Amino acid sequence: MSLKPFLACIQCGKTYQADENIYLCGVCGSLLEVRLEGLEELAGRVGRDVWGGRDRTMWRYREVLPNFSHVISLREGGTPLYEAAAAARWAGVRKLFVKYEGLNPTGSFKDRGMSVGVSKAVQLRKKIVVCASTGNTASSMAAYAAAAGLKAVVVVPRSGVAVGKLFQTILHGAEVAEVSEGFDKALQAVINTPMGADTYILNSVNPWRIEGQKTAAYELWDDLRDLDIYLSIPVGNCGNISAYWKGFKELQTLGLTDSLPRLVAVQAEGASPFVDMVLSGSDTLKPMEKPSTIASAIRIGRPVNWRKALRAVRESEGLAEKVGDSLILEAQKVLASLVGVGVEPASAASLAGVKKLVEKGVIDRDATVVCVATGHALKDPNPEILTHQMRQPSRSIEDVLKSLLSS
Ligand code: F0G
Repeated sequence: MSLKPFLACIQCGKTYQADENIYLCGVCGSLLEVRLEGLEELAGRVGRDVWGGRDRTMWRYREVLPNFSHVISLREGGTPLYEAAAAARWAGVRKLFVKYEGLNPTGSFKDRGMSVGVSKAVQLRKKIVVCASTGNTASSMAAYAAAAGLKAVVVVPRSGVAVGKLFQTILHGAEVAEVSEGFDKALQAVINTPMGADTYILNSVNPWRIEGQKTAAYELWDDLRDLDIYLSIPVGNCGNISAYWKGFKELQTLGLTDSLPRLVAVQAEGASPFVDMVLSGSDTLKPMEKPSTIASAIRIGRPVNWRKALRAVRESEGLAEKVGDSLILEAQKVLASLVGVGVEPASAASLAGVKKLVEKGVIDRDATVVCVATGHALKDPNPEILTHQMRQPSRSIEDVLKSLLSS
């Protein structure tokens, strides 16, 4: 049994059919979300018994995903949850897990949303998919468009996109357009450029992307059972944190969990409009004009999904914190060298945020924490990061062993 989804405006509540070609509310211009008619009636009919016997991709939860006659999938989802004792010690908490989204097909969580988004594009008979990106959305969309036989157009900032992401995007055959300044301008260009009927926008303003991404919440529920945790998520355009919360709320409606996580939204200090809003108690986002951080994936000053994310953080009695680049890189090093999990800088922000909140006494040392590692280390081998992570000068094997044995 699969449910009948429809679209609803998150501000004025106006509803739209699932196959309407629309990204924003036609009445008030706000974001739309996908709602599942009859979700309550699914209670008792889905759960570990049904899902556990299926392949571990995100499509094992197909009852709560849109029903496509042709699914574009590269076996996304089903990513591991590692217990990371060394990271727990570093951050100062009793128990810490890492949800390693870097193990998705193109190396980031974006693949979940793209599997649904590109399947939707095929269903709507679109020919070209378009997105603005700091890199991961672009590389993911390029791969899924290739799998679907669609053309892909990505709009990226002229400088600052991590080389691994750009390489993937080009290799998968996408056309690359540039803007002179930052992700926010790229997204404005995508939203403001008139597009023909054959074109489909796949940024996270597209609510079908969020449907795919919510499956990570189902996986955490599957793996952890008890969701009485802090869930730390790096935040840029605010789509992913909203997606997790949607997933958790659905699990609650399905009667599958009593406890829900407290969300922890983490941004970089130089790109923190969402965190600043939460910390100030304000209900309005003040955009940052020149966001700046080494974590290029989340170098965003004007996140479009902030309303959804604010609702998520408040409803979950969540937290928000911003972290400096040096703490981000320290957390990256801890995950890579003490846990064995290689992540890009943006992903390490989740762990850095937890350390800071524990030091401030906001997160209790007895807490169980899950950090979402959103993207793989190979995405971003930029020289500044390499230098920071202390690449040693060239040495012989004898010198290396001598120095190791004498220490
Ligand atoms: N982590 C990574 C590795 C990302 O690539 C992104 C977003 C985020 C976290 C933040 O997620 O935007 O849903 O709050 N990357 C987008 C992109 C903006 O274009 O790849 P968000």
